[in-house]
Amino acid sequence: MTQYNPRFSELSEALNKDDANVWAVSDRAHELADKGEDVIFLCVGDPNFDTPEPILDYTRARLGVGRTHYSPDAGEPVLRRAIADIESKVSPHPCSADDVVVFPGGTNAIYAVLACLLNPGEELLIPEPMYIGYVPICDALRLNMKKVACPADNDFAFDVDDIKAAIGEDTRAVMVNTPVNPTGAMATPEQLRELAAYCRERGIWLICDEMYSMITFARRHTSLRSAAEHLDNVVVIDGLSKSHAMSGWRLGWAVAQGPLVERLAKFAGATIFGCPQFIQEAAAFALEFDTYFVEEMRSAYQKRRDLIVERINNIPGLNCTSPDAGMFVMVDVSAVAHSKDGNCGEAFAEALLDAERVSVLPGAPFGPSARNHVRLTLAAEEGELARALDRIERFVASGSRQAG
Ligand SMILES: Cc1ncc(COP(=O)(O)O)c(C=O)c1O
Repeated sequence: MTQYNPRFSELSEALNKDDANVWAVSDRAHELADKGEDVIFLCVGDPNFDTPEPILDYTRARLGVGRTHYSPDAGEPVLRRAIADIESKVSPHPCSADDVVVFPGGTNAIYAVLACLLNPGEELLIPEPMYIGYVPICDALRLNMKKVACPADNDFAFDVDDIKAAIGEDTRAVMVNTPVNPTGAMATPEQLRELAAYCRERGIWLICDEMYSMITFARRHTSLRSAAEHLDNVVVIDGLSKSHAMSGWRLGWAVAQGPLVERLAKFAGATIFGCPQFIQEAAAFALEFDTYFVEEMRSAYQKRRDLIVERINNIPGLNCTSPDAGMFVMVDVSAVAHSKDGNCGEAFAEALLDAERVSVLPGAPFGPSARNHVRLTLAAEEGELARALDRIERFVASGSRQAG
């Protein structure tokens, strides 16, 4: 009998590669936990809070009145209006429901925006360290991802001059993330305004992923839409996964202008055919009425950040700066971890898991600027964090960090 030889699209071939590197330590940690070992996980970016009860109650009510049918491609009007109202409140530019398209999560919004703006082979500029999730999206769309370093010795700060210098003839778009996953760095309004103006002058798009916009500590987040002078080349992406502990609800959105909004809606129509009605209505409710719980979670993250920063900086050989925002702390381990290939973060993470059963993410997959770092999450209870920090302290003191 002849063998059927399956053939796949270039898109699926591009996605069909081993990304074990990114999650290698965490996968091993899960294997250990499955065998009954007491592993502490500090690697995830999923809020460890339950979705606030009023949102659950509202959702039950909407399910109860049959809001379980198809929904418009661009999203339910009530949610598009709620998102536009939030944008309008913080921006000198009015935003209307017509500027918003709803997607099932930030990931899908980013995919849709890039798919509508760039062709395979075209260049997208992204500052690094950057969110790991951009890689498969760019792979699937076969984009040429060009990274711009935000070095650790400058606290991973956004540098507009570096980004401008990296924009070349082939660049079709720049995608920034503020606050940044993993570093917590935030762009200033002036930086966003300058970059938006420069991109416009060069005839290219500026996309801003603002997924952590509501988890800030040092100062309020500035949206690209509020900073930019003109809006015709800018796109903002945000969602409820982090701020409202609604990661599993899959609810994100893009805010843009006329022609792009129409195209995004058509893309959503072709690929999603509308997000669930009851989830969109719950999202509108969350945005309009649920600021109390968002503030409670934000302040819990801030306390956890302070705990980690204080404890880490008291461990000889480790150091970290206090992030302005987001759900993570980056710890510099270069003084205590050694690795032949210079990937100190990975050596540290592997050895820490071996010795003390604490799972942290190595920095390198986020970009070369983070190879000396590991990422610790704020999405764990204070008691759990304190227990993990005790183990990290013991690990460093024991000298068992000579990995690699
Ligand atoms: C910077 C950033 N953008 C986008 C996303 C994806 O968000 P969502 O879970 O809504 O798809 C994440 C999730 O971790 C993120 O950290």
